[in-house]
Amino acid sequence: MNATLIKRPTRTVRSSRPPGPKGSPIMGVMREFNRDSLGFIERCARDHGDVVWMRFLYVPALFLYHPNDIEYVLSTNSKNFIKSMSLRSNFFQRLVGNGLVTSQGEEWKRQRRLSQPAFHRDRIATYASTMVEYTQRLISSWREGETRDIHRDMMRLTLEIVVRCLFSADVSNDVDEVGTTLKELVKPFASQATLKWILNNRLPTPYHFRFHALAAKIDKIVYRIIADRRATERDEGDLLSMLLAAHDEDGSQMSDRQLRDEVITLFLAGHETTALTLAWAWYLIGKHREAEEKFHAELDEVLGDRKPEMTDLPRLRYTEQIAKESLRLYPPAYGLGREAIDDCEIGGYRIPKGTQVFMFQWATQRDPRFYDEPLEFKPERWTDEFIGRLPKYAYFPFGHGPRACIGASFAMMEIILVLATMGQKFRLELVRDHPVSILPAMSLRPKEGIQVRIERRS
Ligand code: HEM
Repeated sequence: MNATLIKRPTRTVRSSRPPGPKGSPIMGVMREFNRDSLGFIERCARDHGDVVWMRFLYVPALFLYHPNDIEYVLSTNSKNFIKSMSLRSNFFQRLVGNGLVTSQGEEWKRQRRLSQPAFHRDRIATYASTMVEYTQRLISSWREGETRDIHRDMMRLTLEIVVRCLFSADVSNDVDEVGTTLKELVKPFASQATLKWILNNRLPTPYHFRFHALAAKIDKIVYRIIADRRATERDEGDLLSMLLAAHDEDGSQMSDRQLRDEVITLFLAGHETTALTLAWAWYLIGKHREAEEKFHAELDEVLGDRKPEMTDLPRLRYTEQIAKESLRLYPPAYGLGREAIDDCEIGGYRIPKGTQVFMFQWATQRDPRFYDEPLEFKPERWTDEFIGRLPKYAYFPFGHGPRACIGASFAMMEIILVLATMGQKFRLELVRDHPVSILPAMSLRPKEGIQVRIERRS
């Protein structure tokens, strides 16, 4: 690692724009970005440096690659930034309203304060047994030698887990229907079509009618679950109970509308990201025999035949390192966006308000200035010593600063427990001829799934 490159010398503010790709006169860099976004993100850093300027159609945008600048946007000067315009599109608004991911300012602050207790360590510890139980249920039907798409399995598993943790007492058809309807609803976010975000599409296409009809269906079910819960006033031990019980200092509580927005936000934010981390972790384990052997050795030593529990987590060190390294190489949220609400200075350049600012886990977490052999899967790099010297903002799979992921501990616990429960019983052999490629949509997905052959561990 080249430490001299980490701290940038203080510079005077330059009047010129940062360097960047020119793009075409009308579309700017839109086509290049849509054609191969990850390649484009990497090329921008290689060709232009840490602060890169460009235009998407008429929208000015800045890509930032250096941890110091990322820290400035996410933390030091976070008050000068709101979520980027893509998150403010009417698709998102209709779906998650003013839930934690999308809300801003005082409204966000209050919601974060009210939601925080639901994610307290002691509270989420109570979900550990649900995570293990659902994983055991999934693998109980697996047969030696069968081929499975592990991405699809992980999607189903994390969906069941989040549903159960959100609404433990309401595991009914209603809740299943929320899951399947939401899956339909998020389909438009599965593309890289930045144009759709920019135009904030309001055209009355058949798809839009369907989208709004599905959203109305979800609302009806979620409002009914909330009303039933309010009527019983019981703490069912799930996230919904915590949100319902949350009080602000003045005694005020969340309205039905706020509850609905938070429930749908947690459902969406907490499900696919975790499934993807698990799917990529199995892919990486499958490609690295030595790491797999170490992983199995740890499971045998710590757990033997006993099922994993919350109290095992501190001893499942290598499994945790696998999770961290998977989140470094294949971060499900591979980029974060903000919009500057006032003029500011970034990396020595004057940046006008209205600029969309993007930071990419995909690029910074693979930067050779911060990681030796950055493209190699090396779980053992995650020692305390390494973490101590790594610039904090060179690793941000869960974001950082005030808007950091509220579910990070929940997710890490789930990832480690699911890996351990499955790895105890099975090895997953990658199917050789099956192509694995990346689809960088809203999150980093395996385009054709990940096919594995199931082998029982003796
Ligand atoms: C591996 C799994 C996960 C990853 C990689 C992930 C990633 C992220 C990232 C990068 C952010 C920050 C976004 C930004 O700064 O613009 C975020 C925010 C958030 N995440 Fe997660 N997340 C994961 C799991 C979860 C889970 C399990 C939940 C809840 C059950 C959750 C709920 C949220 C919420 C509510 C926010 C918004 C927080 C706020 O703005 O106050 N996430 N997540």
